[in-house]
Amino acid sequence: MKIKPTMAVLALTVLLCGCSDRTAGGSSTAQSVSSAQTASQGAEQSSSEKSGAPTVIAPNFQSTSETSETSAPVTSEGMSASSGGNMEVTEEYALSEDLYVDGILTIKDGGTVVVGNGKTLYVSGAVEMSDNGKLIIEDGGKLVMDADSAEINGGSVTVNTDFDSLSCEMGTVNSRIIPPERKVTDGVTTVGGIVIANKAIKLPPEFGSHLSLDEVEPEVNAALDEMNSMSEHQYINVSGYRSYYDQQAIFQNYCDIYGYDEADTFSSQAGHSEHQTGLTMDLDAFEESYADTPEGQWLAENCWRFGFIIRYPKGKDDITGYTYEPWHVRYLGKSTAKLVYDSGLTLEEFLNVEGGKTVID
Ligand code: DAL
Ligand code: ZN
Repeated sequence: MKIKPTMAVLALTVLLCGCSDRTAGGSSTAQSVSSAQTASQGAEQSSSEKSGAPTVIAPNFQSTSETSETSAPVTSEGMSASSGGNMEVTEEYALSEDLYVDGILTIKDGGTVVVGNGKTLYVSGAVEMSDNGKLIIEDGGKLVMDADSAEINGGSVTVNTDFDSLSCEMGTVNSRIIPPERKVTDGVTTVGGIVIANKAIKLPPEFGSHLSLDEVEPEVNAALDEMNSMSEHQYINVSGYRSYYDQQAIFQNYCDIYGYDEADTFSSQAGHSEHQTGLTMDLDAFEESYADTPEGQWLAENCWRFGFIIRYPKGKDDITGYTYEPWHVRYLGKSTAKLVYDSGLTLEEFLNVEGGKTVID
């Protein structure tokens, strides 16, 4: 493999088995789902500590009258969703207050749990969905995975507006994630707040112009610093922001050296480079063999912990538009990076946007 010149140089009906209303954050009444089957006793403790939510309900205790005053809908056998315990949802159920799932929330086919504006679904146990079970996070609603052992499995999680409404850096979401519709604002395409730049979707020339060559947005620098503080390796930003015009010159230079067709496999044309977002860095090297080094291997296995993804994975050229770049990381924030990493999808696939090898201007 040839060595490419450095760019930096060039530029989630109800059944229950336990109950309790609980106060979250010292103010609002919260719903809770608790069970001996809870996957994560230790994790529940950390959930309560972290969010200010009450500690775990003892498993196997019975429903009490105090829970009947709640406003949550009675959906099956006189049981109220707000009583706590394990829940089974078989129809649409919109949260009337925050819900703490430290047991198991089962969403059957035909069941939908809607987390609306001002509501939060905290998961430290598990949400188990049948194939057509749905969890919908609406505008202003939040999903918080509150323990490393938390799980959301099966069905689908629909994100209606922004990936910022999810805090999924803990736990694992194994469900199909349905992203919001794309938005195009002043020529910039975003999906759920994530800026897209690829061969099919370009950025306007002035985008990112508040940055200097190789600078990156402050949150990216902070993430790199955190990664370096947690790794035995020290990663160096060898190419960060590149303006539209920097990229124009870079692409032309590669064309001069390798010819257009080859340059097009690894270098972006002006407006199409993710480097123009200020959210991307090339770390350390520009050789595919970097993937086989300890640094490259650690980066691939751990960068998601700090909010990054390897943007151009091996063998995904047809989707991303570019050959494997084990050194090129894109900052998405910890929650979204983990979701993408766990999905095993490219960013194009995860966000359901077009990509591909053909440049569309
Ligand atoms: N090397 C990446 C694809 C870029 O030029 O932006
Ligand atoms: Zn790059």
